[in-house]
Amino acid sequence: MQTTITAAKSKLKQKGYLDMHISPTLDLLEEIQLLKTQKNAVILAHYYQDSEIQDVADYIGDSLQLSQQAAKTKADMIVFAGVHFMAETAKMLSPQKKVLLPDLKAGCSLADSAPAPLFRKFKEKHPNHVVVSYVNCTAELKTLTDICCTSSNAEAIIRSIPADKEIIFAPDKNLGAYLIKQTGRKMVLWNGACMVHEIFSNEKITKLMVRHPQAKLIAHPECEAPLLEKAHYIGSTSGLLKFTQTDAAKEFIVATEPGILHQMQKASPHKLFIPAPPTNNCACNECPHMRLNTLEKLYLCLKYELPEITLSERVIREGRVCIDKMLDISAKIGL
Ligand code: 13P
Ligand code: SF4
Repeated sequence: MQTTITAAKSKLKQKGYLDMHISPTLDLLEEIQLLKTQKNAVILAHYYQDSEIQDVADYIGDSLQLSQQAAKTKADMIVFAGVHFMAETAKMLSPQKKVLLPDLKAGCSLADSAPAPLFRKFKEKHPNHVVVSYVNCTAELKTLTDICCTSSNAEAIIRSIPADKEIIFAPDKNLGAYLIKQTGRKMVLWNGACMVHEIFSNEKITKLMVRHPQAKLIAHPECEAPLLEKAHYIGSTSGLLKFTQTDAAKEFIVATEPGILHQMQKASPHKLFIPAPPTNNCACNECPHMRLNTLEKLYLCLKYELPEITLSERVIREGRVCIDKMLDISAKIGL
């Protein structure tokens, strides 16, 4: 990814983008709307983005919903307000479109934990296994994958694999362990984790639960097992959002990236949402990669059509097979 960033930086420098001063009097929301119409662009935003980015987006969603949107959009340009692997997935699904990411450095610790050359060797040790990879992985890793999954369809994807087939699950060991528990399937796990979800403090959450006895603890399956064992509900970001809308509880302790609280609060203004605290001294646990995107960078990215996601024809051809399989299985079960 480093060479792509360097090349993109020099292009940005040539265009004066890096030295760009945005006047504080510029109405960024209006400018973004204008540019979007002029360029027939669509903004896809993940729930972990800053609230002002969510508010300007055309679609907000979890990883599955955003890849479904990327596959079917009629726009000429996709601005992906999310992280690098998400924009790569959009590019693989819509290779003829221009796909932009406001900050190319918006990576992902989970995707980085599984470099393709190491994974290839790991895979060679388990030659008869079906490889299921969480969508939070690089495009190159997807070329080594049989079926992709997201947190909202992972259980269904594992259940769709014949019982006599052995499975490698990568790169998230926590989601993998959760899936083993849910499905009873034996799986070989890659040893990766998300830096946001693995540092929630069990101790501080227990204290919060004592202080808020009516609150329900809801958690993303990227969290570690001892936290998931305590949770009243476990699900993808969209699953967590839906649960807070339909459940009778009035208070929730939310163990995932706190960007999702914006939509939770909007949908249920009278309910209380408490972000689960991490083990460090911060009060919340924002993803440092997701939060690299800002409204200013979104504006510049639309204006200059940079930084652009580019992938080789081989990676697009080989990498999208596992994503198409995932989308087919999801469509069949109505996800
Ligand atoms: P979902 O929105 O698909 O649950 O994914 C969460 C996540 O960690 C994205 O980086
Ligand atoms: Fe990656 Fe975790 Fe950030 Fe999601 S929240 S982008 S999995 S580091």
